[in-house]
Amino acid sequence: MRILILGSGAREHAIALALAREAAGHELLVAPGNAGIAAVARTVPVDPSDGAAVSSLALEEAVDLVVVGPEAPLIAGVADAVRERGIPVFGPDRAAARLEGSKAFAKRIMAEAGVPTGRATDVLTAADLDGALDAGGAPYVVKADGLAAGKGVLVTADRDAARAHALAWLERGPVLVEQFLAGREASLFFVSDGDRAVPLSPAQDYKRIGDGDTGGNTGGMGAFSPLPWLDAAFGGEAAFVDHVRATIAEPVLRRLAAQGSPFVGLLYCGLVVEDRDVRVIEFNVRFGDPETQVVLPRLATPLSELLAAAASGTLDAVEPLRFSDEAAVGVVLASEGYPGEPAVGRLITGIDEADALDGVHVVHAATDRAGDGLRSSGGRVLTVVGVGGSVPEARARAYAGVERIHLPGARWRTDIAERE
Ligand code: GLY
Repeated sequence: MRILILGSGAREHAIALALAREAAGHELLVAPGNAGIAAVARTVPVDPSDGAAVSSLALEEAVDLVVVGPEAPLIAGVADAVRERGIPVFGPDRAAARLEGSKAFAKRIMAEAGVPTGRATDVLTAADLDGALDAGGAPYVVKADGLAAGKGVLVTADRDAARAHALAWLERGPVLVEQFLAGREASLFFVSDGDRAVPLSPAQDYKRIGDGDTGGNTGGMGAFSPLPWLDAAFGGEAAFVDHVRATIAEPVLRRLAAQGSPFVGLLYCGLVVEDRDVRVIEFNVRFGDPETQVVLPRLATPLSELLAAAASGTLDAVEPLRFSDEAAVGVVLASEGYPGEPAVGRLITGIDEADALDGVHVVHAATDRAGDGLRSSGGRVLTVVGVGGSVPEARARAYAGVERIHLPGARWRTDIAERE
């Protein structure tokens, strides 16, 4: 197949790597891509959020499938534009992408579908804020309604901090004050053709910048998959996945279809698990980052078949997915200053040495190839992935890879998958 992937992060590099390793030998184009992606695909300097430019590129290149990586193009309606030109696309239309584009919309769909989640109050003006904060009490959970690159959420016991965060985001749009949900977090992806929900294997993400879940929120500092703790918490992965499919994914997909916006693409369920109770923290409408970097290396079923079947409404013809028994752990290397203003343009060395280690590969997020070598170009720069027979082995391999890489001022968490 000739496949066009939109995006430039580690998620898109992981998708490209999964497609590139298939025996079928696909031709891969990525717009705009990054320095790591350029080693496995042809990169094209097209803005992934420009629907007309993406559609023209897909037509000119006669691609068989467009895979939309990030949320911004989906919320901007790029999948609609590509679909209108008759090209199969993996990614929801703008209407269904509101599930990520507006947290208030997601809460309404969950209420209508009977999906378990925390109570939430929409706050539209500063005058409504104090009442909403006091109704729930501490710990306070304040979320920007719209896209915020992982920075719109604050969970805190400090009422003044919660209030200041809400007031800052209110300048850009509505916020939600939500009930705090205690428990362990898990991310579970479902591939959907608008009708069916095919689950991948669960992963766990680490959203705070510092060890021990301290410091500011980020896009994600590491992940691992599978989740051995589900055995004790839920009687195993299969029981957990079946439960989430029946109580969360399928009701939401049915609700979206019933209101005329069927969801074709990747439904990311951000969940909190306490005892045998699973509730939704958030939905995203695309593969998670860094979870994708640890889920896709374990997928034994060809990814292209899955994505193409979703795009063409034929997921019923796909065999049950197969995953390797191996575990994967990903550690994100971020720039100095992240999640604030990242220092960019710094020389990165040691990637080849890390890649040469047994069970280690390096996924690029924000890298540029300059004349004298590879340079950082954003906040999250690399994900170093270790794959092994168990989570501890995969973790040891990932950190052995991290030790080989040099990026001045880099920061990373040292406790990814430590509890396992
Ligand atoms: N890992 C969180 C996200 O992809 O939004």
